[in-house]
Amino acid sequence: MNARNSSGPIPSDPSGPHRKEQAIEIILRDAEADRNRRYFDRIQLWHRALPEYDLEDVDTSIEFLGRTLALPLLISSMTGGRGERLQRINHNLARAAELCRVAMGVGSQRVMIEHPETAASFDLRPLAPSTVLLSNLGAVQLNYGYGLEQCRRAVEHLRADALILHCNPLQEAVQPEGQTRFGGLVQKIGAIAAQLPVPVVVKEVGAGVSPADAQALWTAGIRILDVAGAGGTSWSRIEGHRRRAAGVGDDLGQTFQDWGVPTPIALRALAPFRERGMTLIASGGIRSGLDMVKAMALGASLVGVARPFLAPAMESTERVVELIRQFEHEFRVALWLTGLRSARELIGRTDLLLPRELEDGT
Ligand SMILES: Cc1cc2nc3c(=O)[nH]c(=O)nc-3n(C[C@H](O)[C@H](O)[C@H](O)COP(=O)(O)O)c2cc1C
Repeated sequence: MNARNSSGPIPSDPSGPHRKEQAIEIILRDAEADRNRRYFDRIQLWHRALPEYDLEDVDTSIEFLGRTLALPLLISSMTGGRGERLQRINHNLARAAELCRVAMGVGSQRVMIEHPETAASFDLRPLAPSTVLLSNLGAVQLNYGYGLEQCRRAVEHLRADALILHCNPLQEAVQPEGQTRFGGLVQKIGAIAAQLPVPVVVKEVGAGVSPADAQALWTAGIRILDVAGAGGTSWSRIEGHRRRAAGVGDDLGQTFQDWGVPTPIALRALAPFRERGMTLIASGGIRSGLDMVKAMALGASLVGVARPFLAPAMESTERVVELIRQFEHEFRVALWLTGLRSARELIGRTDLLLPRELEDGT
């Protein structure tokens, strides 16, 4: 597998608790695990030569799940689990999210349910008392013995504002120990959403969603959907490394590394659902505050970023804060240049996009 920055074999860990550490190692060693497809570069916005108010007057705040965020940014679900490093990552992210008042999702809490000694890495509410925190579990676990009780435990432990259920059929298909029984999941997701005291958010992990998914989830009662589209982190490529390390001699992960619906295309395709009342979150390959503005004009109410926060979070809270501030400044400048005064006015403003003929094929 022609992995750049690769230095030595990647161990396999079918039993689970070290899987996250392995994935992080792969992401750090293989620069191409971030596909960096820059799909948002193909979208341009009408430039206002006369914004008619001052840059410093731009209001970047929004409301989400009953809380005010200073910026419509979600640090997307990444980690939690065994060992000092995963705990440090989560603590740095949580402290920075609180300081900058942006939202944060944690990585899958399955590890916490199956290995209770790892629960401390998800003790984030004391570090982030006032901002939006999102729990996370794999939707497919609902076909492997999980139900309302495990979902409740995940939410209660984090004191989360919502539960994310991630859907990752491609990742599971490539993962050497993957769980691919996806039959009947929509109805089970709907049943959890009907009984859980907080909203359920459904997301992919970097391969996007289709209108057919949105329709099924809408019918099941889901009202918040994170498209988590293609263009950024490729779990097919990451699991492909682990597959090789486990001795499976094929190239499945690399063959599918760019499979998926690019984030801007997913947002466009889901516009009718937004108009009906579905709240959309955009993530997958968002790499600047400018990308955030474009994603919101395409219909997102909140914008998620994962991979770019990983290295800063391994270092310190300050590094994470610096990156959030960079996103904030880019977002502010882009919003100002569109002539809007407030982020709240930006959602779904497709009239701000230059005609599609100029977009080079998206
Ligand atoms: C290190 C890492 C770990 C991740 N773990 C999870 C996870 O446990 N649950 C989940 O729903 N998504 C997980 N994701 C996926 C992200 O939340 C996001 O959907 C995806 O990486 C696309 O965003 P990006 O291109 O900004 O990285 C993870 C991503 C990274 C980089």
